[in-house]
Amino acid sequence: MDTIILKESSEDIAKAAELIKNGQIVGIPTETVYGLGADACNEAAVRAIFAAKGRPADNPLIVHLSDFSHAKRYTSYIPSLALQLAKKFCPGPLTMILPKNDKIPMITSGGLETVGIRVPSHKIMRRIIEESGCPIAAPSANTSGLPSPTCAAHVMADMNGKIAAVVDGGESRYGVESTVISFDSENVIRILRPGAVTREMLLEICDDVIIDPAILNELEEGAMAASPGMKYKHYSPKADVVMIEASAEDFTRYIAENDGDKVYSLIYDGDEKLFPYRHLTYGADSLEQAHMIFSRLRELDELGAKKVYVRAPSTEGVGLAVYNRLIRAAGFEVIRI
Ligand code: TXA
Ligand code: MG
Repeated sequence: MDTIILKESSEDIAKAAELIKNGQIVGIPTETVYGLGADACNEAAVRAIFAAKGRPADNPLIVHLSDFSHAKRYTSYIPSLALQLAKKFCPGPLTMILPKNDKIPMITSGGLETVGIRVPSHKIMRRIIEESGCPIAAPSANTSGLPSPTCAAHVMADMNGKIAAVVDGGESRYGVESTVISFDSENVIRILRPGAVTREMLLEICDDVIIDPAILNELEEGAMAASPGMKYKHYSPKADVVMIEASAEDFTRYIAENDGDKVYSLIYDGDEKLFPYRHLTYGADSLEQAHMIFSRLRELDELGAKKVYVRAPSTEGVGLAVYNRLIRAAGFEVIRI
């Protein structure tokens, strides 16, 4: 199949919507990362998403809607806390896990009785949902296990020939996937995947916000994952990634002893002045780091890196999301100095 590249014109958006209506898969820009979108209610189309990504069948897809008020069409119950959160954070980078109804096929929900609902804010994504008239199932548009795509070229690198089209909407604003939450009790939520809607922001509305332990720690063998995605290796470039929690000085000292052929470091912007070893930088604060992390991991592969030492990001605010993606890319290999 030839994968065509579409742009932002009304004509191209209509074409993308038409493809989705007809059961095809389209790479679509969102404010978090690019998604592989198809009609969430079309079982054959959803099966094709799993095939294109090489994704395990038990890892559910998020369903994207143009307005949270449409969630009642696909769910059996919406807690009032979800409505309050929607008022504040939808449209935006938040996914809420809710009990699904029969409109959502089991293949879309990975065999679960729940469905993740997200209302994206990206203009192009919203128009495609509206014009197709479909709830759009969309996982990140990468091959399973690889870093998520934050521009159309990344999607083409992984999906060329496997999907009908990619809509080029420029670089994703946030660069990390949405915050995924579930409801533990009436006023308590649990973060299953950290994102740009941070714990601090959620605490303004909820009594308590629990960070699921699997966000920062490896699941023990045989343990139940609150979210199936937690079980799988993720975001990994080909290189062996090691995360180092250290000051810039201590990090530099560590690399001085461990530098070698095809070894790269990923350091903060500003650290490079006193860093004479092979490296890339990934921003100076958490927002910049979120925006750049996935494209840097892809670049390191293109450079042929065999080993990558990353100076660990702060875990404050959206930094927790960056830390979570990196610790998974590192297979939980962390050195604390
Ligand atoms: O920002 C995003 O969320 C992007 C864009 C395209 O919207 N999508 C995305 O989808 O990251 P995906 O499939 O790559 O990641 C969805 C995560 C997975 O870890 C999955 O296990 C979890 O959300 N998830 C989805 N539905 C769930 C459910 N019903 N219960 C628990 N976890 C769920
Ligand atoms: Mg993903």
